[in-house]
Amino acid sequence: MAVKGTSARAGAAPAELGEAELLARVRAHRVPEHVAIIMDGNGRWATRRGLPRVAGHREGVKAARTIIRAADTLGLRFLTLYAFSTENWSRPEDEVSTLMSLLERAIHSELPELMARNVRLRLLGHTRGVPAGVRRGIEHVAHETRNNTGLTLLMAFNYGGRDEIVDAVRALARRVQAGELGPEEISEAHVAQALYAADVPDPDLLIRTSGEMRVSNFLLWQIAYTEFWVTPTLWPDFGAADLYRAVADFQGRTRRFGGV
Ligand code: IPE
Ligand code: IPE
Ligand code: MG
Repeated sequence: MAVKGTSARAGAAPAELGEAELLARVRAHRVPEHVAIIMDGNGRWATRRGLPRVAGHREGVKAARTIIRAADTLGLRFLTLYAFSTENWSRPEDEVSTLMSLLERAIHSELPELMARNVRLRLLGHTRGVPAGVRRGIEHVAHETRNNTGLTLLMAFNYGGRDEIVDAVRALARRVQAGELGPEEISEAHVAQALYAADVPDPDLLIRTSGEMRVSNFLLWQIAYTEFWVTPTLWPDFGAADLYRAVADFQGRTRRFGGV
């Protein structure tokens, strides 16, 4: 079937392509190993509809479920979702507590599907200060899915890029203090190994929804050479076709890593 624009060439996909065509197109090329997403715009989505912000978070959970399925379908090895930052604690108390209970429920209810899809859940962030119910929920699902060998889902929760680097610096300082490591010996590899998920490759592609052109304290060390893709679409409206479109765009880029 000759569909306009569905050439085998990698790169930006024509706007008229549907989800199935986009999927076929991106699958014909090398799929990135690791995609990270700043899931932004839940509040605006709700406000535009005259709804309370938490209604946007509820829809945002559904969008996350859709994208986890799409990432699995696509065959990604790693998907990192920015769910709650260390700065998000500064939001009104009722928004924070609703977000916590939404997350707690979502994590529990996802377990059967994660198992069926062979998805492994891991937490990116530290558990200090996280309500016990949420912490136990994440730990339980991470434990149950630990031997799954398909997609690894990294949930960036109570995550801050600066916090992560501070934690790594502390760990290295302890090693220096113990006489295991000299200050001059510290290399990029030592820092990388002291991060929360040292065994996970840096993201190839970073997506941000809702149009903001900022990093908001996400994966500061890891995104040194990550490709960015920003869409005005608000997170609750972001679907599988949007993910495939971002990947198609990524596939058409030349990564140079400072070379020629
Ligand atoms: C992202 O949506 C979800 C979280 C940060 C938890 P926001 O809540 O930031 O939505 P906007 O950016 O205010 O629209
Ligand atoms: C980043 O979004 C954090 C998450 C998506 C979890 P924010 O909405 O918190 O970021 P800013 O405040 O717009 O920079
Ligand atoms: Mg926001």
